[in-house]
Amino acid sequence: MKILVTGGAGFIGSHTVVELHNAGFETVLVDNFSNSEKEAITGIETIIGKPVTFYEGDIGQAATWDKLFSEQKIDGIIHFAAFKAVGESVAKPLKYYSNNISATVLMLEKMEEYGVNNLVFSSSCTVYGQPDTLPVTESSAVQPAASPYGNTKQVCEEIIRDTVTSSAGFHAISLRYFNPIGAHDSVLIGELPLGVPANLVPFLTQSVAGLRGPLAVFGDDYPTADGTAVRDYIHVVDLAKAHVSALNLLLKQPEGQYYDFFNIGTGTGSSVLDVINAFEAATGLKVDYSIKPRREGDVVAVYADCTKSNEILGWKTEKTLTDALGDAWNWQKKLIGK
Ligand code: NAD
Ligand code: WQD
Repeated sequence: MKILVTGGAGFIGSHTVVELHNAGFETVLVDNFSNSEKEAITGIETIIGKPVTFYEGDIGQAATWDKLFSEQKIDGIIHFAAFKAVGESVAKPLKYYSNNISATVLMLEKMEEYGVNNLVFSSSCTVYGQPDTLPVTESSAVQPAASPYGNTKQVCEEIIRDTVTSSAGFHAISLRYFNPIGAHDSVLIGELPLGVPANLVPFLTQSVAGLRGPLAVFGDDYPTADGTAVRDYIHVVDLAKAHVSALNLLLKQPEGQYYDFFNIGTGTGSSVLDVINAFEAATGLKVDYSIKPRREGDVVAVYADCTKSNEILGWKTEKTLTDALGDAWNWQKKLIGK
């Protein structure tokens, strides 16, 4: 089975290509390096011990799809390629609507034109906003989006669902990721944040590495056990494996339509202070931090109920928060040494 991975040089895409290979799938990657580097391809090749089939191209261009689909017989697509900076999406919404939504519509049109019927889509727990009850299940309501980025995930989920409804043999799954962190334990691939990281773990590791000032903990007056906000941090390798499980489920569907969506998290909520403590335990290093005001737009707490993905995808996490933070630190050390 040959799987096309859009955004295959990116953080989650690169780890997923490795897990697809481990599971016996052939892969074809497409990326335009708008938020990644060619070294990620070399890293993947070193881990899997063979060359990858790679196309440099913009998935917002019809010509990219025509070239890919005329040269490769693709059985399914995992669609990671998108922009993901929440703050930038507020400042430049059209950049996000074009790259995340228009390119997804074009992909679906091209899938229809070339008869490619299986799709896994990268969605986000951002679709839940602040859920009324925790842990959040897939039956929780989708809330009005807090940012253009979040809106692109909601709209793409709806576009994909409607495409399945209208198309006799189309199979698709949306995976709602919680907070992916960490890196492959080979430290040959990992996350490459551009500029000052907005996300907790890359800022923390850069701070400890001396590249940034002390970590600002955004708010300690939330209604949580220690007052800091709670999230569900998942190791990127566990997240990558969920895509293999999702593809296996899609590929064994009988003729006819299939659409479903799944939470992909650990099921455990961790506060910002929990992350700091776990990082210190994993590395033996001290985190220099200070409490700052809440960050605008942040929800208090969100973590996943993964019963549905455990039962239907047959997937569960294997790594701990400490594993993920240790791997994130090893990756950070490697980046400093470059
Ligand atoms: P990433 O930026 O590391 O990877 C995305 C990749 O897509 C990059 O390599 C980028 O160069 C490529 N790309 C972007 N636009 C493209 C285009 N038009 N044509 C070709 N390539 C293009 O991001 P990531 O963290 O790996 O996220 C992957 C997906 O998961 C995204 O859709 C993101 O919205 C979603 N997601 C990420 C998180 C997270 O916290 N990282 C959480 C939930 C959902
Ligand atoms: C986590 C916690 C911060 C930085 C974002 C997107 C979401 C998804 C994942 C793509 C929060 C606190 C952070 C810092 C801090 N991405 N924090 N100091 O906000 O849960 O989710 O990434 O879909 O859509 O919104 O992740 O890592 O930014 O923050 O105290 O310097 O860490 O306030 O409580 P978030 P995050």
